[in-house]
Amino acid sequence: MRIVVLVSGSGSNLQAVIDAVASGSLPVEIAAVGADRPGTFGIERAAAAGLDTFVVNFKDHAARTDWDAALLEAVAAYKPDYVVSSGFMRIVAPGFIDAFEGRYVNTHPALLPSFPGAHGVRDAMAYGVKVTGCTVHFADAGVDTGPIIAQTPVAILPGDTEDILHERIKVAERELLIKVLGDLAAA
Ligand code: GRF
Repeated sequence: MRIVVLVSGSGSNLQAVIDAVASGSLPVEIAAVGADRPGTFGIERAAAAGLDTFVVNFKDHAARTDWDAALLEAVAAYKPDYVVSSGFMRIVAPGFIDAFEGRYVNTHPALLPSFPGAHGVRDAMAYGVKVTGCTVHFADAGVDTGPIIAQTPVAILPGDTEDILHERIKVAERELLIKVLGDLAAA
């Protein structure tokens, strides 16, 4: 199973996937890692692991549709079986979803459909829920919508800050993502 992983940030979830592949516990091939902006640590991690990388810089494209087309072309060139959005902070175009229908996997640091969007951890805390968590799902063209594959609950503890809670969620999120990818590879 070939995957392309898309990142926007630190890529710690990506690192967990890289490590699982390297240790032989996850039978997938990471064909490439792409980002929507230059200078992400995620791309550095991928390069350090000897993986192919690409950047389709959102800011380099005058029209949104140009970026959409460039992203689709860059990802499709690797002929992935699955595309994994791992902290990729962009909504992709419907054309991208059509091209990878049922094959575009997203991770989100909340129990969807609660708390979608860029601040899932903060919003769960602000609401005052006592349990949040993470979701891995097949993404559609909405904001963190699409069929849920798996979820893990994470309790919100007294004294949690957004950062502390997010780090605890990310531990669960990494495990869940690797489990889901393993299951998809075995299917
Ligand atoms: C993850 O919690 C992801 O779900 C969210 O941002 C975080 C990415 O972290 N959207 P990293 O880049 O994998 O460290």
